[in-house]
Amino acid sequence: MQPTRREWLRSGIGMAMAPTMMIPKAGAYSLAEIESKLAQGAGIEGVVKADLPTPSLMLDLDAFEANVARMAAHAEQAGLDLRPHAKTHKCSEVAKRQLGAGALGVCAATIREGEALAAAGVGGLLLTSELVGPNKIHRLIRLTRKRPDTMSVVDHPLHAEQLNEAAGAAGVKLNAMVDIDPVGRRTGIAPGPRAVALAETIDRLPHLNLKGVHGYSGASSHVKGFENRKAHSEKYMTPVLESFAAMRKKGMPAEIMSGASTGTYNIDSELDGMTEMQVGSYALMDVDYSMIGGKSGETYGDFQPALFVLATVISKNHADIATVDAGLKAFATDRDFGPRVARPAGLEYAFRGDEHGQLELAGAAREVKLGDKIELVVPHCDPNANLYDRMYCVRGERVRQVWKIDARGHV
Ligand SMILES: Cc1ncc(COP(=O)(O)O)c(C=O)c1O
Repeated sequence: MQPTRREWLRSGIGMAMAPTMMIPKAGAYSLAEIESKLAQGAGIEGVVKADLPTPSLMLDLDAFEANVARMAAHAEQAGLDLRPHAKTHKCSEVAKRQLGAGALGVCAATIREGEALAAAGVGGLLLTSELVGPNKIHRLIRLTRKRPDTMSVVDHPLHAEQLNEAAGAAGVKLNAMVDIDPVGRRTGIAPGPRAVALAETIDRLPHLNLKGVHGYSGASSHVKGFENRKAHSEKYMTPVLESFAAMRKKGMPAEIMSGASTGTYNIDSELDGMTEMQVGSYALMDVDYSMIGGKSGETYGDFQPALFVLATVISKNHADIATVDAGLKAFATDRDFGPRVARPAGLEYAFRGDEHGQLELAGAAREVKLGDKIELVVPHCDPNANLYDRMYCVRGERVRQVWKIDARGHV
């Protein structure tokens, strides 16, 4: 059989016959070509990492699947439900894998995320930010009509009344969770009598169903050192759990106690009264989480980095540095550290502007050449996923699938 043009180029025959042409060894699919292959239902057979446009977002399927399986096993062993937070990935394909591994639904941070996930067939939604104002309330009603098991959080009696009034006018019942603030002073009512009184108000309102308590201690998630983190989370989650217990003691239909993060999954799961975990980052991971310290040492290795930015060395004019095509716009920059180079080993990355990053080559495990592909662990996975339209899913060198990040952005 005649080799295809691409096979011919890859084999190097093309290089031998045309020595003056700079033809890359791998194929050179443009984004349009990759999209057209997908649109034709042809899959992406034959596409390898080296074919991908850069900078692009890459999901390592082996690492991702191992993370998803590990958290699912932990939840099962702890006897807890799992409703992973989709704010991390904003991708319905990822959510479907989490459901496939036993999750009973996913959380969403915005109404936009909820709508995109529902449109892709993902249910069991818990919206973890207060949906206030006519636009969000009416969209919540629409979402609930489509997915009657949708829940959202409430932290004020006035908001409860507004939801109740809109639900009554629309002829639907909205499912409400009392949002209790463990410590962050971001959203949530204080634990104790005020939280219990809010639950009573919700329970009394005819167009709302009281479902339980949402208590997310974000301030605990990245406390460094396992014992410190444990002490922090226990201190701030205990009053939340006591409020939940008080609601149940009064006979209210509060069944769900949802909380926990990737940093506290094996801490909060031990707390009396928790019923489900809304962990998010564990599926993708990032530099931030790698530094919090694990149960058995300084490195937090419970979950592996699965999300990478793929970049290309576009300038190599100095012995000690090289420049890649991934800069400030390719990474979320909300942390005071940047990405970490995963492959090749031994390189240090520094931001060098909007479109450029600099690699320090002193510790490089091998020579770095013009055109080399560099894989970088992202500093903070949630806002990083939000920057890209799609993630390229890889196994080894092969690109296996392309998943749309369909819930990204704000609308
Ligand atoms: C309300 C809420 N729940 C759960 C999570 C998941 O936390 P993590 O990604 O640390 O697991 C987040 C993350 O920011 C969150 O804001």
